[in-house]
Amino acid sequence: MATRIIQPAARTPSRQRAPTWRQALDERIEDQWELVREAGADRREHLSSNATYVLADAVQFLAELPPNSIHAVVTDPPYGVIEYEQKDHQKLRSGRGGVWRIPPSFDGAKRSPLPRFTVLSEEELTRLHSFFSAIAYGIHRALVPGGHAFIAANPLLSTMTFHAFQSAGLEKRGEVIRLLTTLRGGDRPKGAEKEFSDVSMMARSGWEPWGIFRKPMIGTAATNLKAWGTGGLRRISADEPFRDVIPCSPTRGREREIAPHPSLKPQRFMRQLVRAALPLGVGIIYDPFAGSGSTLAAADAIGYRAIGTDRDVEYFGIATRAFPALSKLAIVQ
Ligand SMILES: C[S@@+](CC[C@H](N)C(=O)[O-])C[C@H]1O[C@@H](n2cnc3c(N)ncnc32)[C@H](O)[C@@H]1O
Repeated sequence: MATRIIQPAARTPSRQRAPTWRQALDERIEDQWELVREAGADRREHLSSNATYVLADAVQFLAELPPNSIHAVVTDPPYGVIEYEQKDHQKLRSGRGGVWRIPPSFDGAKRSPLPRFTVLSEEELTRLHSFFSAIAYGIHRALVPGGHAFIAANPLLSTMTFHAFQSAGLEKRGEVIRLLTTLRGGDRPKGAEKEFSDVSMMARSGWEPWGIFRKPMIGTAATNLKAWGTGGLRRISADEPFRDVIPCSPTRGREREIAPHPSLKPQRFMRQLVRAALPLGVGIIYDPFAGSGSTLAAADAIGYRAIGTDRDVEYFGIATRAFPALSKLAIVQ
């Protein structure tokens, strides 16, 4: 693969006059940004002139956002919901039990805990669907017509998560498949590993699905692009459309030191998704489950505006400290 550094958003050269519709769009986005970054009364940190992180519950914050004010959502939610709820989250922090487990070590290397999504009960699955329905309805209301939402999931739970988004009125527009080596699945039967040494209980997983959704456009693609700056995806270049399979290994090394969140997503991947989410390179990105602020850092690196929420005060602190280094991190594709 050719070596390429992701470039910031193209800006209209100052002496070349933008068409009238584009001037009106830029002005509207400017006004929307002032409203969005001050929405609600929760504690917040303006991380840069382009990025704001609010310590807030996502469902509540979505209700406080003005309707038709966000141009794209890029988010990595709690896939099973329970892993970031008080009981199991406390267990992760104390290093014992719950939905989190340490993957088996076969090479002496210390592994980070991963949530086990096979253990969810019927009741927890029903709660998961209700939670994502509330998020999806909120996103539908906050997005401008034609706005895209990229929602990360896990292959075991994505059917339920994505169904909630479609039921809320968002159109499914495909999935991005992130190819990566994981330590999920592939285990022999517990307690009978030697007896059934040729058996794996599940396939070793090598991909992560990100649902692509869109709020229905108003009018044609061209009308919607001019009115709202949304409806399509930004191309990689004039010759290359955005593609839905992206190989990208798990976050390691320096990035983890900068932003020690248990579910940190790599900048190399996030910058590609975030960039594609705004077809004209202008607008506001929202990440309801911002964690370490990796989406906000990716947006800032590209030159986009972004707002994020997370209800966990520890992750709010991590993001505030990590943001300058994460957004400036040099990455090579
Ligand atoms: C999978 S992590 C996101 C990690 C992020 N992608 C990163 O790279 O750091 C999900 C996050 O959602 C947060 N969360 C869970 N429920 C929430 C809610 N109702 N409102 C806001 N944040 C929530 C958790 O605290 C957690 O940080």
